[in-house]
Amino acid sequence: MTVQALHILSTGLAIGAVALGPQAQADNELVKFPENYASGVHYGTANRGNIREELFTSREAIDAVKNGRPLPNGTVIILVDYRSGELFRTVVMEKRSGWGAEYPAALRNGEWEYQSFNPDRTVKQDGQPERCMSCHQSQAQQDFVWTINRMKSAQ
Ligand code: HEC
Repeated sequence: MTVQALHILSTGLAIGAVALGPQAQADNELVKFPENYASGVHYGTANRGNIREELFTSREAIDAVKNGRPLPNGTVIILVDYRSGELFRTVVMEKRSGWGAEYPAALRNGEWEYQSFNPDRTVKQDGQPERCMSCHQSQAQQDFVWTINRMKSAQ
């Protein structure tokens, strides 16, 4: 399968789920819905079948990537997922100093936390941040971000 197909398939696959002890539950509270994401940079669109994904982040994040610097503390990346033209969910990753320390190394994604939101902006209870982390961990060499090249070429 192509890398691009992975995100789509993830809704149906129980890949690489890492069991966490009670102290290491992925935190459901840290990542808030990013109300103002549309005022950031729209750095890409992915279309596959009836699915359309729109990618957003901040100007600071784009500038850092273009200049070969790490994504800054406070970076939020937003993927808005539409199915047949209807908003299906919004998935968000956010990086803050000190985040992630509670996770075992096998799961930890540096200082990133993940969350998935319903169209009404409530937390999607089947979002399972552990699964987000286990898949994004494969991109550790580029700060856990799959679409880093799209950021580099963004306007
Ligand atoms: C099975 C692998 C997989 C899982 C599980 C997964 N993702 Fe992703 N994610 C991807 C891929 C691949 C992309 C690149 C865009 C695309 O092709 O859909 C991506 C892109 C993203 C992006 C845009 C930034 C980037 O890394 O390119 C965000 C934000 C994101 N995912 C958040 C999440 C959240 C939150 C979850 C859990 C609810 C999640 N992802 C689960 C594979 C995954």
